[in-house]
Amino acid sequence: MRIGVLTGGGDCPGLNAVIRAVVRKGVQIGGHEFVGFRDGWRGAVEGDVTPLDVDAVRGILPRGGTILGSSRTNPYKDRGGVDRLRASLDDLGVEAIVAIGGEDTLGVAKRLHDDGVQVVGVPKTIDNDLGATDYTFGFDTAVTIATEAIDRLHTTAESHRRTLICEVMGRHAGWIALHSGMAGGANVILIPERPFDIEQVCDYVNRRFATKRYAPIVVVAEGAVPVEGTLQMAGGGEVDAFGHARLGGIGQRLESEIASRTGHEARTTVLGHIQRGGTPTPFDRVLATRFGLHAIDAALAGDWGVMVALRGTDIVRVPLAEATKELKTVPVERYAEAEVFFG
Ligand code: F6P
Repeated sequence: MRIGVLTGGGDCPGLNAVIRAVVRKGVQIGGHEFVGFRDGWRGAVEGDVTPLDVDAVRGILPRGGTILGSSRTNPYKDRGGVDRLRASLDDLGVEAIVAIGGEDTLGVAKRLHDDGVQVVGVPKTIDNDLGATDYTFGFDTAVTIATEAIDRLHTTAESHRRTLICEVMGRHAGWIALHSGMAGGANVILIPERPFDIEQVCDYVNRRFATKRYAPIVVVAEGAVPVEGTLQMAGGGEVDAFGHARLGGIGQRLESEIASRTGHEARTTVLGHIQRGGTPTPFDRVLATRFGLHAIDAALAGDWGVMVALRGTDIVRVPLAEATKELKTVPVERYAEAEVFFG
């Protein structure tokens, strides 16, 4: 069988480990052939491919990014996109697709499966917000990078007795903020799931300043929002092909508000794409590799329309429909655990 592999959406440490596992096992156990679609669904629609054999995937396990490139192209958004995709599969003799992506890429995979295309999905996102899997690869790496940054921020915050705010990614889920904030001993963690009260945030900050030596670290998720009507926020912004707004700026907004309300200097660090770049952690390499191995098993078994997922320590298959049904957000009890350490 000839199988096309693609990576869509924001890149994520571990993508190359999945590609490597899919190709290595597919060639080894079944003599199957692979092509890589360049830049996610764009390559599939335009028939833009790169050879993908065992040689092409050697040495890529520890490499961040994706050797196939990525984009946020949505074939269902452009008129005729799906017909062009089908035509390019026919031209290339590609019978099936392994789609590695987050909510958007897998949403397209699900629709294509409904429309008769043979697809298997692999979940990825640093945001860890896909409901059907306990963890996505990339998340552990993002949390590790953010935690290291927070550790560093502690020492400079203490030297200057400043509030240091660390803005992390995660879109509308607070997982990166929660985990890195807990691991890094943040004094306040703000997540989208729980609108914050700026007075309470400043109260925590002041309590920290009341200690002899220490200075506050505020970890804020890019999607965090104030309780309605309590703080003026800048509105609007760019949206991508899937209609997602570009987030960011909350750290800066908090900086001025905390500084003026507490009378102590504040500074913001926006970690941005540093969280997504570079080499994956061992946990992410192993998870991504296992996802790749199980994805090719599903394809070779002709089990289409499924996504591989982590449940406990097992890799299972779930219908793509389930995978894209709902976002996994931080539950109230998990936030309550972190709150014990605020202030
Ligand atoms: O979904 C992954 C993610 O890194 C989000 O955390 C973030 O909001 C978004 O992608 C940023 O996207 P872009 O790289 O397109 O700016």
